[in-house]
Amino acid sequence: MAAILGFGGYVPERIVTNDDWATRLDTSDEWITQRAGIKRRRFAAEDQATLDLALEASRKALADAGLEPADLDEIVLATDTPEYLTPDTAALVQHSLGCRNIPTYDLGGSGCAGFIQALDVAASRVATGVRHILVIGVEVITRLISLEDRTTAVLFGDGAGAVVLGHGPGRAEVLGAVSGTDGSAAGILTLAAGGTRNPFNERTLANGDFNRLVMDGKKVFTEAVKRMSEASMQVLEKVGRSLSEVKLVIPHQANRRIIDAVAHRLGIAEDRVYVNVHEYGNIGSATVPFALWEAVGAGRVGAGDLVVLTAFGAGFHWGAAALQF
Ligand code: ACO
Repeated sequence: MAAILGFGGYVPERIVTNDDWATRLDTSDEWITQRAGIKRRRFAAEDQATLDLALEASRKALADAGLEPADLDEIVLATDTPEYLTPDTAALVQHSLGCRNIPTYDLGGSGCAGFIQALDVAASRVATGVRHILVIGVEVITRLISLEDRTTAVLFGDGAGAVVLGHGPGRAEVLGAVSGTDGSAAGILTLAAGGTRNPFNERTLANGDFNRLVMDGKKVFTEAVKRMSEASMQVLEKVGRSLSEVKLVIPHQANRRIIDAVAHRLGIAEDRVYVNVHEYGNIGSATVPFALWEAVGAGRVGAGDLVVLTAFGAGFHWGAAALQF
């Protein structure tokens, strides 16, 4: 069975508060706090891009696992905001870390559910005999979306999280994972331009599509609550465990009200749900691995604990994983 051997996380130093946003957009600390529960978020420095954040988290995960880059056999990286459209950011991580010529791949476009999908795929690769896989979730969202659109800009931040997956016992066994997709919802949360349907060009620059994040917030909200609650229960059923045994649920951090609604629907108390959205906002596919790293470091989970990870994102994609520490 696949096990997590090490955890890593990183956020850039620059803090942007709600009051900072209020000086540049028609918004307020009150609105953002009330609607999303976010107080501040981190922005990548001008000289930082996706690779830099991924490397910081990856090096911590490798050190935590007591492994060297040369010990890695595969890298899978989940992001919607890659360093380049091609090649994949995972290839750049491989070279920058100083790995052997191991296979790497990006899992792109799965939105905030990307890390759970990557973990699911990587766990099955470990089951086929691959020894050590670096699994990364990373986003520099603030670089690619419009910072003039108050309905989306204030929700996001930049960051990275990583784990090294291998053969157990390790620190936490991946007991199982579930994933799902509803492609009919693709248009509800999408970057308007940049692909072959609507490439970056003079037209998309002129009409503002080039950095427009199209989002039906209410639809996303409702589906996120439903899918994360259901996926959490499904993964527990799959691995033959019950919710009463779970020490901590680590949900995707998009909005405090979504997290509270998931907890309510699951019928679990606040102290059994991990929350850091007030500090970092929504860091996309990095929220779950970053929160996991933070929760382990803070002693919120440790040996003997059962933990459920769950996420939801563009696609729509969703998933959950059960970890036995
Ligand atoms: N500051 C002030 N006013 C704002 C802002 C802002 N930043 N943004 C929107 N408003 C206004 C709207 O224009 C609207 O004004 P109107 O009534 O005059 O038209 C009003 O506030 C209310 O807007 P609603 O959309 O009704 O607010 P709602 O309560 O639905 O909250 C929110 C919006 C926070 C986006 C919520 O729907 C949400 O969080 N949805 C989930 C979206 C999400 O998490 N997306 C991230 C990517 S996907 C994921 O990670 C799961």
